[in-house]
Amino acid sequence: MSQYTIAVFVGSLRRDSFNRKLAHAMANLAPANFTFEQSQIDDLPLYNQDDDDLPALAVVRLKAEIKKAHGLLFITPEYNRSLPGMLKNAIDHASRPYGQSAWTGKPAGVLGVSVGAVGTALAQQHLRNVLAYLDVPTLGQPEAFIQAKDDLFDASGNIGESHRSFMQGWMNQYVDWVKHYTVK
Ligand code: FNR
Repeated sequence: MSQYTIAVFVGSLRRDSFNRKLAHAMANLAPANFTFEQSQIDDLPLYNQDDDDLPALAVVRLKAEIKKAHGLLFITPEYNRSLPGMLKNAIDHASRPYGQSAWTGKPAGVLGVSVGAVGTALAQQHLRNVLAYLDVPTLGQPEAFIQAKDDLFDASGNIGESHRSFMQGWMNQYVDWVKHYTVK
């Protein structure tokens, strides 16, 4: 059975982040031949085009992780109706120098959970715009705009009963779609 590595990008640094919990819980819904590896993005410097010729080690690492991955998974909160700056900073870093983007052609899933009823819909839409420009195809359906409710996770940190069927369906679709994009 082919093995697939997915690079995961979480847009929150908060200790008790719902989005980080969601990243862990979603990995548990995937088949055994899919490995989810969260990329560290909180040690990246602020992007500065002057550094393109001599990128920080953290940037080199980030680009290597993306290139190695068969697919991408972005799980992000919504900050002021858009994606968090930390996540955009990581995207900018790995897109440069011009013509040497690490993102090109990698299939991506987009998920997010927020305390607001909008469920990160606007952040996801902004993120999809950025990814489209970078030639990153994104899974269109099902969309998942998740509001943080008490029953979102169970006591073990897995997706709670109320959301499990929907989120399992999302993961099944994502897995099929990544396979479709990946020539092995
Ligand atoms: C927020 N939050 C928020 N929620 C939302 O639904 N739409 C929004 O535009 C915003 N904007 C926003 C800006 C900033 C700077 C912060 C800190 C928060 C609330 C957000 O949903 C909440 O803090 C989540 O808990 C963030 O996700 P994590 O950190 O739990 O993963």
